[in-house]
Amino acid sequence: MNQSIYPPRQLAGALRAPSDRSITVRGVLLGSIANGACRIREYLDSDDTRAAIGIMQHLGVAIEQREQTLLIAGRGLRGLKPAGQPLYCDSSGTTMRLLAGLLAGQSFGSVLDGSAQLRRRPMRRVTQPLSHMGARITDTDGCAPLHIESASLHGIAYTLPIASAQIKSALLLAALYAEGHTRITEPAMTRDHTERLLTAMGASVRRDPAGLIETEAPQAGLRPLEMHVPADFSSAAFFLVAGCIHPQSRLRLTHLGLNPTRTGLLDALQAMGAQIEVEAHALDAGGEPVGDIVVSSSALRGIDVGGELVARMIDEFPVFAVAATQAHGTTVVRDAEELRVKESNRIDGLVEELRKMGARIEATPDGFIVEGPTRLRGAVVDGRGDHRMAMALAVAALVADGETLITGAECVSKTYPGFFNDLATLCPEAVS
Ligand code: S3P
Repeated sequence: MNQSIYPPRQLAGALRAPSDRSITVRGVLLGSIANGACRIREYLDSDDTRAAIGIMQHLGVAIEQREQTLLIAGRGLRGLKPAGQPLYCDSSGTTMRLLAGLLAGQSFGSVLDGSAQLRRRPMRRVTQPLSHMGARITDTDGCAPLHIESASLHGIAYTLPIASAQIKSALLLAALYAEGHTRITEPAMTRDHTERLLTAMGASVRRDPAGLIETEAPQAGLRPLEMHVPADFSSAAFFLVAGCIHPQSRLRLTHLGLNPTRTGLLDALQAMGAQIEVEAHALDAGGEPVGDIVVSSSALRGIDVGGELVARMIDEFPVFAVAATQAHGTTVVRDAEELRVKESNRIDGLVEELRKMGARIEATPDGFIVEGPTRLRGAVVDGRGDHRMAMALAVAALVADGETLITGAECVSKTYPGFFNDLATLCPEAVS
């Protein structure tokens, strides 16, 4: 699908972005092994979450979708059944890596596979530490398909070589089946949705002041889950940046997940001088902070981003690069080499696509450098099969001269199937 975007005169209104992908996938996996019926309200329905739901159904879990609620008949820690066929994760890295941990300690074997895109992404980062725990898991030259045989697991002490919530979560899920304690240290704090959900379900996951995480298998299993999924900060991020860089804008983004391990973009934009007000509400039943954000047109200046902030905004760099093209001065991103192994190589992709629109952006081995501000011009750009690239390019198009045509725009359905419709409700002239 090709999508044309035109610069609108103004951006105005309120939006509840779609629900959180990371929390929905975790809710589906953990709900499936809870001791009884779980309800996940306002779950996200997208390609990634459908993959997770389909797999848990193949593993014998009854999951029903009633309007925006998922009803999951949790089967307990030991209640899953062999699927008898490879489990297809589509393009969901979160689903594959977390399931590798969940399935490593079962009494049956499994095969995890996915799309050509997912088959190119690194999996040794999970198979290796899981093997240390006693898992019998093999990858295919470091990638999917993954072959898992039944094994008895034991806890380990492991320092993550990369700041990755997916690796951490794979180990936390394997720890539910492991003998003894599992201790994990992360180089920078990553999203902690798994820890919060496990805690809400009665497991003990402790983090000491130095950041060491410790857990063990819960004797009584996991309590059933009853929760609301907040709007995905990473999906709202496109409108957050659009609201900052468009000269006539005021947007309210509602019911947003404001978990500090996810809101690094907010900190970065505020450091750039963005006009953003945060109205925090309360903790949701899944243990997640929720609130509204109001954003309006801002004069941004360039900043340096690196270190611990990178993990807290890891999915936001495509749209952050767009913000940087409109900021006065130089923006430097470092310590972000992980961007090369996301759904696409986001460093090279951003440089190539944004240059087509006139941006002054250069790649570095671990990030990029942008000089701004630049008046962008409409161009034919490619989403590169990467949802966040396609949506970031749409945001760039809102401040570009003339028409921008985004090819391969259908990939937004991975996390945000209604993206172009939502854009049309805020600025009908932008989308044709
Ligand atoms: C995710 C963690 C991040 C993120 C991904 C979703 C998760 O990946 O980029 O989109 O749900 O745990 P890494 O943990 O590999 O950095």
